[in-house]
Amino acid sequence: MRLCVALDLPTKEENLSLAKEIKDFDIWLKVGFRAYIRDGKEFLDELKTINPNFKIFLDLKLYDIPNTMADAAQEIAKLGIDMFNVHASSGKIAMNMVMDRLSKIKNRPLVLAVTALTSFDNDNFRSIYNEDIDQKAIKMAKDSFDSGLDGVVCSVFESFNIKEHSSKEFITLTPGIRPFGEESGDQKRVADIAKAKKELVDFIVVGRPIYKASNPKEVVQKILKKI
Ligand code: C5P
Repeated sequence: MRLCVALDLPTKEENLSLAKEIKDFDIWLKVGFRAYIRDGKEFLDELKTINPNFKIFLDLKLYDIPNTMADAAQEIAKLGIDMFNVHASSGKIAMNMVMDRLSKIKNRPLVLAVTALTSFDNDNFRSIYNEDIDQKAIKMAKDSFDSGLDGVVCSVFESFNIKEHSSKEFITLTPGIRPFGEESGDQKRVADIAKAKKELVDFIVVGRPIYKASNPKEVVQKILKKI
């Protein structure tokens, strides 16, 4: 299991200083909407300057018509990042087109599909998709697997089932991790590290429990020890 730290701090300077603080660990960094919209490619390059071995997950959750998604994926692949994601609800045609476009690129990044956001509880989810999360997440994961993606973003509670219905090698990345019982905030389906291990999760994403801690480095160390 790998740790992916979400760089969701309010300013570029704060994100960079967090990255510097944890630069000696073998970890992934997650760059999301806020940081990428504001700080762009330059920020990604600065992270690699801090530690060239940092792996970067660009969490932009693409969701559009197939051709637009494939165009965007092609541009993302030029950014030098290691993994990005799309929404599984964009459908098999769009996901297939993304993977087809990327197949022409050497050393393409890994591509994951978001199934159900971890901030949804079952009622919120049903009001949009008219189906229960656990069943729909598996269907979305199967669509992603059939479309040639490398894995999915899901909650810890779906990871094992998704692997059973696709392949053990199909990556699961799970946000909503509260390693030591911290506050859940807006996340509804949260779990700790022991549960993530049991569910065979490949990547845990941790944001607030690290960047809101008084000593983020210590929390990262504690998480890595537990992993
Ligand atoms: O602070 P916290 O640990 O809840 O951060 C989780 C991170 O994972 C946030 O950056 C959030 O945008 C992201 N994420 C999520 N649920 C998804 C996909 C991404 O929480 N399904």
